[in-house]
Amino acid sequence: MLPDSGSEARFSSLFDVIRRRRSVRRFEKGRTVARGTLERIAEAARWAPTGANTQCFDLVIVDDPEMRDRVLEVFLRQSNRLIAHVKGFPAVKKTYLANTVAILIVLGDPRWKASFPNATDSEWEDEYRANNENILLASIGAVIQNVQLAVTACGLTSAWLSGGGEATTNRELAELLGYPDSLVAYGTIPIGYPEKDVTYRWRRPLAQIVHWNRYDPARYRPDGLIAHYVAKLRPFAMYRGDEDMEAWDDIDEKTGEWREAYTGPTPNPSGRIE
Ligand SMILES: Cc1cc2nc3c(=O)[nH]c(=O)nc-3n(C[C@H](O)[C@H](O)[C@H](O)COP(=O)(O)O)c2cc1C
Repeated sequence: MLPDSGSEARFSSLFDVIRRRRSVRRFEKGRTVARGTLERIAEAARWAPTGANTQCFDLVIVDDPEMRDRVLEVFLRQSNRLIAHVKGFPAVKKTYLANTVAILIVLGDPRWKASFPNATDSEWEDEYRANNENILLASIGAVIQNVQLAVTACGLTSAWLSGGGEATTNRELAELLGYPDSLVAYGTIPIGYPEKDVTYRWRRPLAQIVHWNRYDPARYRPDGLIAHYVAKLRPFAMYRGDEDMEAWDDIDEKTGEWREAYTGPTPNPSGRIE
């Protein structure tokens, strides 16, 4: 139940967009989009909340096909570095960027951390400095979320690439796009028309996530579960198109001893915290 009937329709259209937003990494070839559509997406980003209303971001929107292909080259090199230097991450080849109608890059400007709470004495410096980093990143996350939701509401689809936050990739992007490399491309969002409709993605049951009034240790996910996710489940949880793992024919093979922990309300029935 919602407090008034007007909210019902508003929530339902908002939730529809939230639910449909999906990371899609395959787009239809040869499509274009009007600048006006991209401007509306940018306008949605403009209304994101940011720490101390610093608006600590800029958007570089690449809709010129030649420039897009040069961004693609940067991300092909980024993927090759992932394959060479990262422990077993299920990276997808970034050639699909060639089929985007635009690539929207969210740059964060760390200088704005000066505007977040800073300590007056050295004893508290570390405490506030660390949280300033959180505030910056959370602000950028809110911007990217708005972008992805707006993309979805416009009938397009997108992904959220974080590789631009790696120093080498950021340097290459900065050189290509002409921004000072003190700014960081925390989010790169390829935008396009989905080649196939990816409606769902695995999500934990709500009962496992929500703690009413007090944290329930029975819902604390054990270290073993995290290790299992990293070693065995990650690529399937990331890319399969089912909300519930129970729909997987091979659920036992994929989840092993952790089946209940992934699908039930309490991943840690003993309530013991390591
Ligand atoms: C902070 C953050 C970083 C991400 N980085 C990448 C990335 O570099 N490449 C990618 O393909 N997806 C990336 N994703 C997308 C996630 O893999 C995706 O959101 C998740 O698997 C859930 O799928 P869904 O977005 O379709 O619901 C990122 C998401 C977030 C929130």
